[in-house]
This record gives sequence, structure tokens and C-alpha cells, in this order.
Amino acid sequence: MSSEVPAQYRRVLSGMRPTGQLHLGHYHGVLKNWVELQQEYKCYFFVADWHALTTHYEAPSIIASSTWEMVIDWLAAGVDHGLADLFIQSSIPEHAELHLLLSMITPLGWLERVPSYKDQQEKLKEMDLATYGFLGYPLLQSADILMYKAGLVPVGADQVSHVELTREVARRFNYLYGRELGFEEKAEAAIKKMGKKNAKMFNKLRSAYQENGDQEALGVAQALLAAQQNITVGDVERLFGYLEGSGRVILPEPQALLTKASKMPGLDGQKMSKSYNNTIALRDAPEEIEQKIRKMPTDPARVRLTDPGEPEKCPVWQFHQVYSDEGVREWVQEGCRSAGIGCLDCKQPVIDAVLRELKPMQDRAQEYTEQPDLVRSIIHEGNEKARDAARETLEEVKAAMSMNLL
Ligand code: TRP
Ligand code: SF4
Repeated sequence: MSSEVPAQYRRVLSGMRPTGQLHLGHYHGVLKNWVELQQEYKCYFFVADWHALTTHYEAPSIIASSTWEMVIDWLAAGVDHGLADLFIQSSIPEHAELHLLLSMITPLGWLERVPSYKDQQEKLKEMDLATYGFLGYPLLQSADILMYKAGLVPVGADQVSHVELTREVARRFNYLYGRELGFEEKAEAAIKKMGKKNAKMFNKLRSAYQENGDQEALGVAQALLAAQQNITVGDVERLFGYLEGSGRVILPEPQALLTKASKMPGLDGQKMSKSYNNTIALRDAPEEIEQKIRKMPTDPARVRLTDPGEPEKCPVWQFHQVYSDEGVREWVQEGCRSAGIGCLDCKQPVIDAVLRELKPMQDRAQEYTEQPDLVRSIIHEGNEKARDAARETLEEVKAAMSMNLL
């Protein structure tokens, strides 16, 4: 299988679990990335509320409240519903149906071996995660991804194994259901439908790939297929498969788009995370943010103002690396090592920078908060568009599995 994403699938999908307030870690690690991606790709961003339910089924009320707040935070951070479709997973029950259909062909061992299954059970000992739903978590994620035939899935390192599972499930699906009767004849007929010139070019590229493993030829041929307007979706899928020597590619294999590890540290220097209680929420009040930063631990060697310190041993320095320019950083290094500045002096530019960054977001969030109907209508519209795309895929999947009785 080639690792190239055919142009047809330059579509991005990602989801976030609504389990509490978003913080600066989400902003720097995920949202800024989404805002960039939406400029370049067709993007689907959704609230993964069923995924949240796998871990929060005992106290699910947080999910509903976090959902709306999270959508407001997305919009406030610059996610643009004009560029990306924003929707809620549970509003598109097709995800559940695809999950069920895929569960039929997914070996139990594949799910048991996904590292997060055991890891999370260990980590979240206080919750009983020995459930059927939790075992299926990554397969539900596969359904999310395959539903929109997304080629690219922006995720953190902890989610890469879920995208890998998705690739395996897609491959198995295509293997089982892409082998139709008379495949070769149908593919040959489809080639003719592209017109003489394109057909000739396609055949040449296909030989170059199949006989000499020419990857470039594969890429060009995929681009050629993606540009075809006059042949059906089914024929395009056949030709994608025919090109590579497989059956029809009904569900394309996605790729993880690894988000650079967020440089955003928490208040204590560890990764910023709700479970470490070291976050600055996007909507913390300015006074609260100021207090949190003023209370941040610093290099323990600096007991008195006259004790010199070492920025490398101080979480505040990590904040300067995110927020300060060269000049301020030199001032910190110099002043810390010579005991020329106090820690509160050192923290002030960080406080100012965080507040400056969050101010426009908080203002926008306030505007959306005052217009709940607007937020609902944005989601409503996103749901409609997502549902159309989802129905299309589901129909194809059902037909391939002979489950389209009516
Ligand atoms: N599991 C993801 C997380 O915890 C959320 C998620 C659900 C997701 N479905 C997805 C991410 C599909 C990307 C694609 O972050
Ligand atoms: Fe940290 Fe700044 Fe204090 Fe040095 S002066 S210990 S970098 S807060």
C-alpha cells in the first residue's frame, strides 16, 4: 500500500472529548493546529461525546455542559464554521451503525492489543473500564474517521495506535468486500470511460508502478483518478484498487498527522493536564490567571532574592520560551543567574503575555455565550452537512456488505 494520500482524500477529521474546560494546552497543542488546517483542507471537527461516555458513564452530566462550552472555545480560538464542519458525534447516529458493522469484521485481539486499552485502565483505576464500550473505543474512532473518508487525522502521539487500527480495519474491509465478481472487467471498462488519452496515460502509469514499483507513477496516477469528473464513485474506487493490485478501495486508509508535542507546560512544569491540576483554562478570569502564575514554583535554589537561580530548573522559564521574545529571555537568563531580578519581576511579562493572548478569545467567547442560539445553529448546520456525508458512506458500506435490503 502506498503511503501517499490521494488528492481525493485530502480531507481532515478530528474530534475532542467533552470532559471539562479547555486550557492553554489544548489551545497550543490542538486548536492552533486546527485553525491552520482549516485554511488548507476540507475539515471536519467534532465533539466526541460518545467517546467521553465510555469513561464518564457514571457521571455523564459533565458531557452535555462541556459540549457547548467546548464549541464556544473552538469558535473563540478561531475555528471557523465557514471553513470547517463542526458537529456532535451523537447527533449523527450513523457513526454508531458504522461502528456496529465494522465490529463484525474486527478481531477481538486487535482491540485488546491497542496500548491505550490497558494503559488507561491502569491510569484510571478508580473507574471501571472493563466494559464492552471501552474496549470498542478505538473502533468507534475508526468509524468516525472512515465515515468521512478522511485522509489525514491530526492527533497526539497517544492516538497514533488508533489511526493504525483504523488502517487495518479499512484494509480488511476492502479485502473482504472490495473483491466483487467481474472486478477486472469492470475496472477495464472504467478505464475506457476516462477517454482515450487518460486511459493510455493511466495504463502506462499503472505498469510503471506494478512492474517497476515506481512510486512517483503511482502518485501521478492517483492524482489523475482524483481529477476524473465523468466516472462514478464506484469506478474511481475500483481504479484506485486496480492501480495498486487490490480490490475496490471502498474505505481509504487514513494517516495520522502527528501534532507536534505541545510546548505548553503546566504551572508546575509537567505537561499541562487537568489530571495534574496545573492548568490555565482558556476562560479563567484575568485575576485568577495572575494569581496562578504568581504562585508558580520556581527554581528551589532561589530562597532569598539574593540567591542566584538557574532558568533551566524553573517552570516559569518554560513559559518564557513559549511567550517571550529574545530580549526578554536574555533579561531573564541574566537576571536570574545574577540574582538581579526577583521571581515576581520575572513572572510579570508572562502574566502580561498570557492575558494578552487570552483577552480576544475571552471576548469572543463572551459574545458566543450571549448568543446560545447562534452556537446551536452553527452546530445544527454542521450536523446537517456531516450527516449528508455520513449517509453516503454508510450506504456504500451497507451495499458492500449486502445489508441494503430496502
Ligand atoms: N480519542 C480522541 C482523543 O481522545 C478523540 C477522538 C474521537 C478522535 N474520535 C476521533 C480524534 C477521530 C481523531 C479522530 O483525543
Ligand atoms: Fe524562575 Fe525567573 Fe525566578 Fe529564575 S528569576 S527562578 S527563571 S522565576
